[in-house]
Amino acid sequence: SSVLVLNGPNLGRLGSREPDVYGSQDLESLRALLETDAAGRLSIDLRQTNDEAELVSWLYEAVDTATPVILNPAAFTHYSYALRDAAALVTKAGVPLIEVHISNPHARETFRHTSVISGIATGVVAGFGFGSYRLALASLLWGV
Ligand code: DQA
Repeated sequence: SSVLVLNGPNLGRLGSREPDVYGSQDLESLRALLETDAAGRLSIDLRQTNDEAELVSWLYEAVDTATPVILNPAAFTHYSYALRDAAALVTKAGVPLIEVHISNPHARETFRHTSVISGIATGVVAGFGFGSYRLALASLLWGV
């Protein structure tokens, strides 16, 4: 079985985007890290898009295939009710969806203090760099 690791807008620029906030490693390094952690027990299906509609369709895919999701909604976190409603379909179907953030949004600008996703997420991990994804994956490997 697999896990969808979905990344929202601007996360394709990890490595060069604000390295002081997000570190200097890119999504390919993240994929490698998660693959090592999963040790073949789950296959890592890591994707990134800047497109809200595409993220929504990937969440439908998670519902239809009952595939757990690790979601970094990026800036959509703070205002996308469309993404929230699609994410709610996942958790209401009994499929885990873990919200992750590289940074700790609560320690940053006020507009980042609100997440419209957290209220329907299975859990939230933020502030540990790529470790946030690793902790989310660990929870899936334990079997939340
Ligand atoms: C982020 C935090 C968001 O506020 C921001 O818009 C991002 C990345 C994070 O991983 O820390 O793009 O989700």
